[in-house]
Formats: sequence, C-alpha cells, structure tokens
Amino acid sequence: MADIIKNIKGTRDIFLNESAIWQNIESHIHSFFQKYGFNEIRTPAFENTNLFIRSIGNETDIVSKEMYSWVDQGGNKLTLKPEVTASVARSYIQNNFNKKYAINKFYYIDTLFRRERPQRGRYRQFKQFGVEVIGSKHAEQDAEVIALIYNFYKSLGVKNLNLKLNSIGSKKSRVKYKKALQDYLKPYKDKLSKVSQGRLQTNPLRILDTKIDFEIEILKSAPHIIDFISKDDSDHFNEVLSLLNHLKIQYVIDHNLVRGLDYYCKTVFEIQSDLLGAQDALCGGGRYDYLIEELGGKSSPAIGFAAGLERLILALENQDDLIKNSPDIYLISLGEDTIKFSFDIAEQLRKNNLIVIMETLRRSLKSQMKEANKLQVKHVIIIGEEEIKNQKVIIKNMDSGNQQEIAFDQIDTFFQK
Ligand code: HAM
Repeated sequence: MADIIKNIKGTRDIFLNESAIWQNIESHIHSFFQKYGFNEIRTPAFENTNLFIRSIGNETDIVSKEMYSWVDQGGNKLTLKPEVTASVARSYIQNNFNKKYAINKFYYIDTLFRRERPQRGRYRQFKQFGVEVIGSKHAEQDAEVIALIYNFYKSLGVKNLNLKLNSIGSKKSRVKYKKALQDYLKPYKDKLSKVSQGRLQTNPLRILDTKIDFEIEILKSAPHIIDFISKDDSDHFNEVLSLLNHLKIQYVIDHNLVRGLDYYCKTVFEIQSDLLGAQDALCGGGRYDYLIEELGGKSSPAIGFAAGLERLILALENQDDLIKNSPDIYLISLGEDTIKFSFDIAEQLRKNNLIVIMETLRRSLKSQMKEANKLQVKHVIIIGEEEIKNQKVIIKNMDSGNQQEIAFDQIDTFFQK
C-alpha cells in the first residue's frame, strides 16, 4: 500500500457542517460590512518580503520567526501573507486611491500564514476578516471601526465580549515611555523570563504583552503609556471613549495593551472572549497613521482591525442556525433508461432553487431509500421504467410517509406548494 500523505501541522480541512458555518458567516460579513459603506479588497496571497519587514517591523514575532518566506527561481524574496494591513497599504499607494476618494474604506476575508505553535484557536494557516480605513484622523472613525466589529459580533449572538482599549500615542511619546519602562524594569531584570530579558533592551513594550503570572505581577506598578502621550493624543482618545459611551459600547482601558506589530499609534484595541481559553483575542486593531508614508505614499491617517474566523466560530455557542438545511429531494432512479429523465427532472427543480441529489451509483431501491434517509431529505422522487411508461413519478414525503403519483408536467407545481 502506498504511504498516506497527511496535511501540514497547523492546517485544517473544513467540510460538511463546518463548511456551511463558514459560508454563512462569510456571506454575513459581506452584507454587514457593506452596510457601513466598506468595499471588498482582494490582495495577492504572497508579496515581497520587504513589505512585511517594513510595515510590521523586524523585531516583532511575526517577522523575526513566523513568516513563510522563500526565494523563488528568479531570486525574488517572497512571503506568504501573515496579515493584510501591509498589503492593503501597498495596494492603496500603488493604485493611487488617495486621488480616487477622500476616504477609502476597505474590507477583506483572507487566508494567512504564520509559523506559530499550533493550539486551539491558533493555526499556521488561518482566516482573517477585517477592515482598513485610510483617510480620516478623527475620533469618529476610530469609534465607527470599533462599533462595526462590536456590533457584528453582537449580531451573531457572541456573548462575553470584552473590549479593551489603550492609546499608545505618537512615536515621540513612545520613545519617552520606552525609557521609563526600561528604568522601571531594570531592577527586576534577573526575575524576568529569558525572552523578556532579551526584549528589555530591544523592544520593552512587548514585555507588557506577557502571559506569565510573575511578570504580570511585576508590571502592576509599571508606568502607563497613557501618561506619556501628548495633549492632542489624549484629547483624541477621550473623544473616542465619549463616542463609545454614547453608543453604549462597554470597554475597559488596558494600560498594558500595546499590540504586537510596529505600525500602530494612538488608539489600539482588542476584543476578547472568555470562551476561547488561552488564545482569547477575537480581533485586534488600531491606528497606523505613519504607515502609508513609511511605505512611500502620501501621508494619510488610517485605522483598521482584523478578526480570526476560526476563533469567532469557537466562540459561537449556538451554531444550529448556521448549518445548512438538509437537501430537498433525493431522486431515486431505477434502471438505465431512467437516467436521462432524472437529469431533466433534477435540472428543472434546481431552476426553482431546490436542492436535488441524483443517484449515480445505480443502486437498488432499498439502498437509495437508505441513502435518502441518511441525508434527511424532505422528499424522494422515485422514477422507474413503469413511471416512464405512464409519464408519472412517485413522490414520497419523508416526514409523513405519504406518497402519491404525480404527472411529469405537474412535478414543478407540486413543489411550489
Ligand atoms: P493580529 O492581532 O496579529 O492583527 O491578528 C488579528 C486576529 O487574527 C487575532 O486577534 C486572531 O483572532 C487572529 N489570528 C492571528 N493569528 C492567528 C493564528 N495563528 N491562528 C488563528 N487566528 C489568528 C493583525 O493581523 C493586524 N493586521 C490587524 C489590523 C488591521 N490592525 C490594523 N488593521
């Protein structure tokens, strides 16, 4: 026997009920996000590696250890997209979107790749949906983006939503804060984990993300970045909070929320759900007012978020409504002479939006009936040689068990009832 080839660790096959749930959620994303005036953008699956190094930052986990990168036969350094913001920014600049509209509101559903340690809710290939709004610096844009994803989760009945917000101010305020945090942490250096000790010099803000209990304890009295931001940034943040209050969206301010990508400034946020366990972030986002300029475009403020689709599904308690209905009809055909008639009947019924399954295994009546039961179809249509002779079929209602003979030209009308 030949060896069986299995899927790659951290990837998954999605099928049957789960695939129906995905389809339902994806179509809900399209209609929900379009209601807010967002337009879909589809960017390529891979990009120049440099795009991600320049956007996300060399010292982030994503760039330093998680990207699937390779050099192609032409010597180009390429990377499978680990996130979408950088690609949208690239596309915005390349396609001169700034000249098309004063404000550009994009949304996406995309497949991404990160070589992380797989666990529940964390995969090496995963799906994100998200938005990027490029053009507005005002607080109402932050509030609209946060409200969009918050209301989206609510619309699907996701419970226990925990919205966390912080402001990390401008780049300048971060330099001052980095120094203050280093000064605070230095006396604890020996107590910190190896990873955090390394980060203390290079990227101390990342230590704030820690999940290690004794580090969380040490950080309790650390200085807050919010005390280092400018008056403008603080006014902006307060305006965002006031709009969220107006919208009755509950939040907590999390002083340790800094997010793991370098392009952020000012407002950052995450929504978590306690139903998720260790990987509890349903979505994350924030402002990135410098990125467009850093990638060679005309300076433009921007904000967005991205949300994990797999994690959303894990957080959905009641998925019954999202599972596809069972097929309407199983077309039982008996004998080779019935095949062409079955095709004609099936095609006609499908034009009327019915889900019709045709037999292609040439099984016995009993086996086909068994299959129809297994698929929980609503009706079976039986067509044999006798039925062709009489130009009639037998239609059986699988719930009631009632069956009746219906003329070929009355089948359509029967199912329109
Ligand atoms: P992120 O926090 O890296 O942000 O990812 C956003 C969301 O994607 C996470 O909250 C999580 O739900 C999901 N996610 C991330 N990694 C994985 C994984 N390995 N397996 C399953 N789900 C995962 C970004 O990607 C930014 N681009 C968000 C953004 C958009 N900021 C501004 N605009």
